[in-house]
Amino acid sequence: MVAQWGIRISCAAKSHSGAQQVAPSRPPARDGATAHSEKASALTDTTDQTQSQKIDLAEIFQSSGVKEVLEELDRELIGLKPVKDRIRETAAFLLVQKARVELGLSQETPTLHMSFTGNPGTGKTTVALKMAGLLHRLGYVRKGHLVSVTRDDLVGQYIGHTAPKTKEVLKKAMGGVLFIDEAYYLYRPENERDYGQEAIEILLQVMENNRDDLVVILAGYADRMETFFRSNPGFRSRIAHHIEFPDYTDEELLAIAEHIAEEQNYHLSPDAEAALSEYITLRRKQPHFANARSIRNAFDRARLRQASRVFSNAKGPVDAHTLSTIEAADIRASRVFRGGLDSDPKGMPTGSVKEDT
Ligand SMILES: Nc1ncnc2c1ncn2[C@@H]1O[C@H](COP(=O)(O)OP(=O)(O)O)[C@@H](O)[C@H]1O
Ligand SMILES: [Mg+2]
Repeated sequence: MVAQWGIRISCAAKSHSGAQQVAPSRPPARDGATAHSEKASALTDTTDQTQSQKIDLAEIFQSSGVKEVLEELDRELIGLKPVKDRIRETAAFLLVQKARVELGLSQETPTLHMSFTGNPGTGKTTVALKMAGLLHRLGYVRKGHLVSVTRDDLVGQYIGHTAPKTKEVLKKAMGGVLFIDEAYYLYRPENERDYGQEAIEILLQVMENNRDDLVVILAGYADRMETFFRSNPGFRSRIAHHIEFPDYTDEELLAIAEHIAEEQNYHLSPDAEAALSEYITLRRKQPHFANARSIRNAFDRARLRQASRVFSNAKGPVDAHTLSTIEAADIRASRVFRGGLDSDPKGMPTGSVKEDT
């Protein structure tokens, strides 16, 4: 762990606190280094030695790459202030925990299992990926990959199928993060012989016994997750960090659209932006609304319409500006401007909400 972290522990020569605690009567040293090495060494017990060691947290923050992940999170994700704050807090906590272990102040691995609650398209999967990278850089998981699953990946249809399925997934996820989307579907109290219970038991055991090598993130709607935790206290007690993902405001969704466009070298004309603003207001009231995912999908469709418009309008060579501008017409052709859509089918994973144009 030390090597992986590159922690520099220095038996801090200029530290006087430890030595002074042990030998308060000692006259203050003019040259701390000499005083410490010559006199204190005889006096210090192990506690004292620990107290005189220092860990440069800022240096670890820089050298571990944690700083980059946090900056990436800030840059790539619009809004999500509460989520970003919680992640920064968690990173600081883990950094300090790690330093405490190094100095012998603590021995246990903190519980890192988490729950991410929020509506579809609020960024849970995206943030989980970043979290995996963060935990890897902090040295909490060996590989830092993310394995994303739903009930069907864990639970079999027939007797004897569930345990091998769940174990296979766990094996894949070891050394990284296991992201269980819509985790509450694992528990089906209405079905007495539901195999989900078997998966739950295996998961709980591994979450306890392998917590130094696997981080589990349970994701889904907040209310359903709460019901799930009430029926499965074993899960609640194993989860230390609960992060809530709020819905995006209309302004944030517009900013997300601009961000997505920019990522792909497109831009929205002022009229297109106004149309998109209207689109967002309407879309939010319709079924299957999935926050940023709906916006990404809307942009993908606008891009198709733009291509078809540019192609059929082209009288001669076209320039880069034409090829990269989304116009209002590309947005307004959406069915969203012409009324409601189908009703919301229940039981879709938050990661795969079906959408119409
Ligand atoms: N804050 C954000 N800024 C930019 N894009 C976002 C943001 N949140 C989500 N997205 C985009 O929206 C889509 C859905 O996000 P995702 O993480 O899959 O949501 P969830 O897992 O909560 O359903 C992804 O394409 C993601 O890149
Ligand atoms: Mg998701």
